[in-house]
Amino acid sequence: MKRILTGLQPTGEITLGNYIGAIKQIVELQEKYDSYIFVADLHSITIPKDPKILRENIRKLLALYLACGIDPNKNTIFIQSENEYHTNVSWMLECNTYFGELSRMTQFKDKSKKNTNFSSGLFTYPVLMAADILIYDVDYVPVGIDQKQHVEIARDIADRFNKKYGKIFKLPDALISEVGTKIMDLQDPYHKMSKSSENQNGVIRLLDNIDLIRKKIMSAVTDSESIVRFDPDNKPGISNLINIYSVFTHKNISEIEEEFNSCNYGDFKKSVADVVINEISKIQNKYDEIMKSNQIDKILDDGIRKTREIAKRKYEAMKLEMGLGR
Ligand code: AMP
Ligand code: TRP
Repeated sequence: MKRILTGLQPTGEITLGNYIGAIKQIVELQEKYDSYIFVADLHSITIPKDPKILRENIRKLLALYLACGIDPNKNTIFIQSENEYHTNVSWMLECNTYFGELSRMTQFKDKSKKNTNFSSGLFTYPVLMAADILIYDVDYVPVGIDQKQHVEIARDIADRFNKKYGKIFKLPDALISEVGTKIMDLQDPYHKMSKSSENQNGVIRLLDNIDLIRKKIMSAVTDSESIVRFDPDNKPGISNLINIYSVFTHKNISEIEEEFNSCNYGDFKKSVADVVINEISKIQNKYDEIMKSNQIDKILDDGIRKTREIAKRKYEAMKLEMGLGR
């Protein structure tokens, strides 16, 4: 069975966009692959975090993912910082990575421009990510398009290391979702729904109060045509709602246009709100149950035991080839 691995940063609360664009994909992939999924808490501190909030977010993220259908029987689930081999391996890879290639990373260029006082962790971030990936001999790395360059550099580092020290690493490929519906901001449908949007009314979070979710959908920006018709260029608001409705009902666009052909926008929005709330309330109920139980700790204990063993083996093999230790 081919192996996949992906890391998720514990920052902010998961949005409807993350759920549709990323989580649902992972839930599908777990059926076909030997799946590893971890919370990339070490990556999240490249931009300083409040310790108390960080720890809460780690747990919340794990509980939400489980509530969304990530199955602990089909996935190895762990927290990056609990596996000390990731940072050890990262250092060894850093010494085989060029300053120049890290300087060319788009994410680094963007983020270092935004903060004048950025940490060196922000610069070496892709090497830690390479360690996360290469330790586990993974075949594919499911990520958003923004992380593709980081998977490619992991591959380059692995290839260079293999040529220099002998074949230690498998070369990974990024797995970018092909059609992944992009969910737009409800108040500004020309931009994607994002954790950091300024107007919170445009963003639905999976842990939002149910009444608030209904309110946000009912007040979504539309147009003056009053026809439920899919046309992202001229009717981005309505098209976005059609997309959302389609994801939750598995109906295609023409079926939806037909279903609402004599309805006004208010009726259509009400139906969209109903299907979204139906699914999100199930997730929220599971989330509450998981937070109350000790499930998460049990899953993490199993995950760390298994991944430490794999990581230790890789680390020892690297040390041996590199001439480290005695
Ligand atoms: P981010 O919240 O930007 O860190 O993204 C995490 C994951 O969710 C990535 O795989 C994104 O591609 C996906 N994602 C984020 N926002 C959206 C959105 N509005 N529509 C679809 N996918 C999204
Ligand atoms: N950098 C990724 C992000 O911000 C998270 C991540 C860390 C990751 N290590 C990884 C993703 C390894 C895939 C594989 O989204």
